[in-house]
Formats: sequence, structure tokens, C-alpha cells
Amino acid sequence: MKAAIIYTSVTGNTSTLAEIIHEKMEARDIETDLLLVDECDFSTLKEYDMIAVGTYSWDNGELPLEMEDLFEAFEQEDMKHVTTGVFGTGDSFYPYFCGAVDIFRDMLYVQTNLAVTLKVELTPQNDDYLRCEKFCDRLARELVYA
Ligand SMILES: Cc1cc2nc3c(=O)[nH]c(=O)nc-3n(C[C@H](O)[C@H](O)[C@H](O)COP(=O)(O)O)c2cc1C
Repeated sequence: MKAAIIYTSVTGNTSTLAEIIHEKMEARDIETDLLLVDECDFSTLKEYDMIAVGTYSWDNGELPLEMEDLFEAFEQEDMKHVTTGVFGTGDSFYPYFCGAVDIFRDMLYVQTNLAVTLKVELTPQNDDYLRCEKFCDRLARELVYA
């Protein structure tokens, strides 16, 4: 079993979320690489059984620039055997809350075995720990039945 969380974060909200998810995956005995998108070798993506993608949103719900190569890497490979989830933080002050999560969701649904999505308002709060738990449950369940 090979699992990874690949994420980006500027002010730390998405990295906090990524760390919570990482802890919860490891608590399920799923050894998971925690990778900043900049340190990820995209040629290895198809070797994973599970990938969770984490992103903030930018500029009217757009993908951050540094996530575009990862997005294209998923688009260019046959990745139906990879179970995926996408999570992100955003600010509901903006009209398109967590738009980058939706952009990844639509592509991962086509290219991979998308299991779950999660959107969090800015930095994770107490309630969000339970939502992270459910996010990890959905991923883990897919891995068992895949
Ligand atoms: C210039 C700018 C544009 C933003 N645009 C959006 C947006 O369109 N939708 C959204 O949900 N959040 C938007 N945000 C909020 C960030 O996505 C949010 O603060 C996020 O938690 C930052 O993640 P990070 O702490 O991991 O860097 C924007 C923030 C800034 C500074």
C-alpha cells in the first residue's frame, strides 16, 4: 500500500489541514508520504494506491499556480487505479469558496477513483477534526474494497 498527501500552502491553513489528515491516515496504519507539491516527482504518481490533494484557492476560485503542473500530470496519465480525495481551505468572503477544490474534484472524478472532498473555512477548527476523520474513513474504505 502506497499513499501520499500532496499539498500547497502559503499562510499555513492548508498545511495544518494536511497535517491533521496525515496523522489520521497514519493512525489507521496507512503509511502516508506528506509532500509539498514543489517536492513531488510527478512521474511517481501512478505508483500510489491513494493520493489526497490539498489546495487553497486564489483569484476568484482559481488553482494556485504551483498546483497547475500536478493538475496536468493527473490529466495526462491513466490513473483510474488510484483512489483520490481532495481537500482545501478557503475564505467564504470570496464569491467562489474553495473553487480550486471543485476544479480538482471535477478532473479527479474523470481521471481517478475519486472518493471524497473536504472544504474548510480558513484554519481548521474543532468541528473540522471530525470532518477530517470522515474524509480519512472514506479514503480508507475505498482502499479496502479497491
Ligand atoms: C488575493 C486572495 C484571493 C483569494 N481568493 C479566494 C477565492 O477565490 N476563494 C476562496 O475560497 N478563498 C480565497 N482566498 C482565501 C485563501 O484561499 C485562504 O486564506 C486559504 O486558507 C489560504 O490557504 P493557506 O493558508 O494554506 O495558504 C484568497 C486569498 C487571497 C489573499
